[in-house]
Amino acid sequence: MSLRLPDSDAPESPDGRRHAPSAERNAESILAVLQAEAPKGRLLEIASGTGQHAARFARALPALDWQPSDLDPGNLRSIAAWRAHAAAPNLRAPIVLDAARPGWSADHRADAILIVNLLHLIPEPAATTVLAEAAAALLPCGRLFLYGPFLRDGRATSEGDAAFDASLRAQDPDVGYKDSRWVEERLAAAGLVSRWTSMPANNLMLVARRT
Ligand SMILES: C[S@@+](CC[C@H](N)C(=O)[O-])C[C@H]1O[C@@H](n2cnc3c(N)ncnc32)[C@H](O)[C@@H]1O
Repeated sequence: MSLRLPDSDAPESPDGRRHAPSAERNAESILAVLQAEAPKGRLLEIASGTGQHAARFARALPALDWQPSDLDPGNLRSIAAWRAHAAAPNLRAPIVLDAARPGWSADHRADAILIVNLLHLIPEPAATTVLAEAAAALLPCGRLFLYGPFLRDGRATSEGDAAFDASLRAQDPDVGYKDSRWVEERLAAAGLVSRWTSMPANNLMLVARRT
């Protein structure tokens, strides 16, 4: 991804762990939702980024078999370094996965799927495929956890969100915040029912399951 983001210059430890401030800030609130609602079994994390969440969440949720992944092979070094640091037996080695590639769900069935801060960074057709494939990958009692900033009724909910959305669209007119209703409709078309929870800093967490 060539977008310039607030965390683009995440500092790196000598062992290769990158430290994104946003992943540090939102970890506790995301973890609280997972602790309350994640089923046991295999969790596929899409767009793991630095790997901070994978390390922290896998340690805190030992009943989950945690599979981190990312589109960018360059991120796997940091994810693997966080994995070594966490030493959590339930945290698997990271894999490359393009979640916008049609058909990936057939090889990646999961009890839970976590996607944090991805949809606003990709074009609508790619986001449509991510949601459809995530829905298809879920096992019958599975849950999809989708966290990030969203438009609500077509509007950003704070000046900071409006500015960030505008900065993304200025870099690439095809990307930017998606509307929460648009996401819900895509998931409904894939047979999932959605519930939204307000999160700190105007973000939302969607928990979706099969109807
Ligand atoms: C803002 S980072 C979020 C990383 C992490 N989830 C977090 O919250 O710290 C966005 C991530 O999405 C990944 N990404 C972008 N397009 C993707 C795609 N089509 N499939 C999977 N990952 C993708 C990027 O490589 C990057 O690691």
